[in-house]
Amino acid sequence: MNQPITIAVLAGTTREQRQSIKAAHYIADFGSKLPDVEIIFVDPTDFSFEGDGNDPEGKDPRYTAIVERADAFFIVTPEYNHSFPGSLKRMLDSELAHYNHKPVAIAGVSNGNWGGVRAVEQLCGAIRELGLVVMSWDVYFPYVQNIFNDDNSINEEYNDRYEGQLSKLYAELIWFAEILKEKRTK
Ligand SMILES: Cc1cc2nc3c(=O)[nH]c(=O)nc-3n(C[C@H](O)[C@H](O)[C@H](O)COP(=O)(O)O)c2cc1C
Repeated sequence: MNQPITIAVLAGTTREQRQSIKAAHYIADFGSKLPDVEIIFVDPTDFSFEGDGNDPEGKDPRYTAIVERADAFFIVTPEYNHSFPGSLKRMLDSELAHYNHKPVAIAGVSNGNWGGVRAVEQLCGAIRELGLVVMSWDVYFPYVQNIFNDDNSINEEYNDRYEGQLSKLYAELIWFAEILKEKRTK
């Protein structure tokens, strides 16, 4: 068995009625079935960040520990007013050094046509500043309300499409994670 790769899947919003959490769980479940992969699911409603910034009082030590441990990240963001949610930005902002030289994949989610592409584009600038290595393509969930059933399972007609896309994106993410992990630990 290879050394496992730990991937933190970050859900992007705290909104009570959020639909994007279904995509986040689907992505996390998919990753947890891959060989030699450990998934940590990060729901921002489970954490608390005082004020702004990354000073000690602005951190949640449980999130710090996850970021430190993770070898890679998979961010699942909905689109809010052509950008990504403030709660996701707040959570990301609470850390800095532990993101450095780690890869990140992104999924965009919307209830309309665009699948969150504008949120993803906005997010790329911020995560580049954090030192994360951004994958060159993404996965999109437009009309998210049609993709997942009420019990959060994926609608049969979308299964093949997303299985194919996620297989490729996870393979790319893990490829970068293994190389960067080796380099970081040397
Ligand atoms: C404050 C707010 C702003 C939104 N702005 C956009 C937007 O600019 N573009 C878009 O496609 N969808 C927008 N949406 C709709 C989301 O795409 C929709 O809620 C979708 O289900 C994903 O977000 P959720 O996880 O909060 O449900 C917005 C939703 C909220 C709550």
